[in-house]
Order: sequence, then structure tokens, then C-alpha cells
Amino acid sequence: MPDPTHAHGEHDAGHCTIWLDGERRRAPIGASVAAALALHGWRGTRSSVSGEPRSALCGMGICFECRVAIDGVALRRACLVTVREGMEVSTRHA
Ligand code: FES
Repeated sequence: MPDPTHAHGEHDAGHCTIWLDGERRRAPIGASVAAALALHGWRGTRSSVSGEPRSALCGMGICFECRVAIDGVALRRACLVTVREGMEVSTRHA
């Protein structure tokens, strides 16, 4: 079965292209940014002030641990934002 997360023509329907820390990735349309990050193995969405990795915890907009920059706008909660074509997500400047 083709991998639906990579560009394979007709098998790619239902996915969009996003950029995760500058890397091109495919994500299921309708998925949250947090889900897309997890799908592609991103282990953290940001770092704490002491440098510890942080990532999605509650998945419903309460904890703010999933903060990322999306299309240049910092402090977006990845669990509340749905992926869309061409979206740029940065875990480095969240
Ligand atoms: S995972 Fe808690 S606010 Fe996003």
C-alpha cells in the first residue's frame, strides 16, 4: 500500500503540502498541526526557557504546550489549527 504521506499522484488525494521547520511534508487534510508534527516524528513543538522539549499535552487548547509559529505568527496552538496547503510551521521560533 502506498504511503499516503508522500506525493504519489492519485494516492496523494486527501493530503496537502506543509513545511515543518523548512522541510516539505504531506499531511492529511483536516488534521491538526499537532497531529501532522506527530505523524512526521517531530518530538517537540518548542523548547522551555531552560531548553527542555515541550509538545502537545491536552490536545484541546488548554495547556499551551503545543505552541508553534505558523506562517510567521508565533504562539499558535498546534492542536487547534488545521493544516492547509502551503502552511509553514516552525518549532524553532514559537
Ligand atoms: S496540546 Fe494543549 S493547548 Fe495544544
